Amino acid sequence: MEIDKKHFTGGKTEGGITSSYATEDGVKLKVPYSFMGTIYDDAEFDAAVAAMKQDSLTMGPKTQEFQEKFARIHKVKYAFACSNCTTGMHVATQLFDIKPGDEVIVTPNTFVATSLVILKEGGIPVFADIDPRTFNIDPEDVARKITPKTKAIYVVHYAGLMVDMDPIMELAAKHGLKVLEDCAHAANASYKGRMAGSIGDVGAFSFHSLKNITTCGEGGMITTNNDEYAKGIQNLRCMNNTQPWDQSKNEWKFGDITCKKTSPLEYWMPAHFDVIPWNGHWGSNYRMNEIQAAVGCCQLDKLPMLTARRQQIGHAITAGLQDVTGIETVYEPKDREHVYHLYTICVNEKELGGSRDEFMRVLYEEEGVQSILHYQPTFHFTGLQRMGYDPNQCPNASEFFYKRETNLPMHPRLTEQNVQDMIDGIKNAAAKVRKRHCK
Ligand SMILES: Cc1ncc(COP(=O)(O)O)c(C=O)c1O
Repeated sequence: MEIDKKHFTGGKTEGGITSSYATEDGVKLKVPYSFMGTIYDDAEFDAAVAAMKQDSLTMGPKTQEFQEKFARIHKVKYAFACSNCTTGMHVATQLFDIKPGDEVIVTPNTFVATSLVILKEGGIPVFADIDPRTFNIDPEDVARKITPKTKAIYVVHYAGLMVDMDPIMELAAKHGLKVLEDCAHAANASYKGRMAGSIGDVGAFSFHSLKNITTCGEGGMITTNNDEYAKGIQNLRCMNNTQPWDQSKNEWKFGDITCKKTSPLEYWMPAHFDVIPWNGHWGSNYRMNEIQAAVGCCQLDKLPMLTARRQQIGHAITAGLQDVTGIETVYEPKDREHVYHLYTICVNEKELGGSRDEFMRVLYEEEGVQSILHYQPTFHFTGLQRMGYDPNQCPNASEFFYKRETNLPMHPRLTEQNVQDMIDGIKNAAAKVRKRHCK
């Protein structure tokens, strides 16, 4: 698949937070960081056009098919398509009834969305530090952060490697807490044979452009095994209107107006939907459209191939970087299926003799490999610092972001040459930095 590079617009669009980085700085790149995480071919193109010819372009047969396929693959009772992972997590936060003052334990090593949905409901994100080997939330620190105000735990399966879910679920059961799995990186990932999004109370997936599958740049899926939550998700995702009017009645009174049915066939009375807040929560429009869902169905057919290709690339990088002094490769525990949404290498500054930033500079400017960082600890953003969060509270997450990590280009369209260029570039950059520092 040829990618149109016209979108490298040097900061002239609003894409900054979420699409390709500007590269009009004269650096000649061998392997750019692409924000297109998947492969589209005629299947997606044809499906999109076919869906555009439907009578209804939203919440139709393609959405139904996409949800059913997704639920089957992820071994969950329910899957509901939505506009993106953030809105999916917002729905979960409303389902969990997070209210002002309630505490939610969350990882700081995530896109801001995971905390944003807590803040939006007036909840208080409480940050637990990460495990320095998996970069995922550390269950031992979660246990330390539980207080009588804690209501939920929000975990993120960073880079496509699932969190150690057993101790998280044990803590949740012991303290009566809800668990949200942020599965933005984790389509098709598993832990001890259980699929992402099937272990916690609710899971939320992202089909944003960068993700392992994408529904035209934006999209999401909410999963649950809980029948009550399934009703709540349908209600909150679509402006509280899943409740039909009580059709056992033949008459409704609205002030001075009386509305009378003379036959059960009068489908328009008193209107075709009713609105009732779910458990006191007002919903919104978080729907996915039919074109996205049609593309999503094709992407699910490709998911085994897309996952296998990412894993193949991930394993090739790991093998190619063994014994590079100062560079640490991805850790893959045996009980988990890593789906390599990201490939994160870590710089060991002591061993390398130079800093991570210096290494990245050489890798980019001299070796033409564009790596990027995910994620600045959430509590370092100005908005949260203004709330008084201790900037030193999660030393592993801070060290990871400011001193250790960098994420290599990772998507299934990478060629063998791209992979070799990355391996060679990393080896060369590490050697150059080491040499500059050992006089
Ligand atoms: C870990 C994580 N959580 C949540 C999100 C938000 O996903 P979306 O853009 O679909 O709302 C992202 C997306 O970048 C993510 O990486």
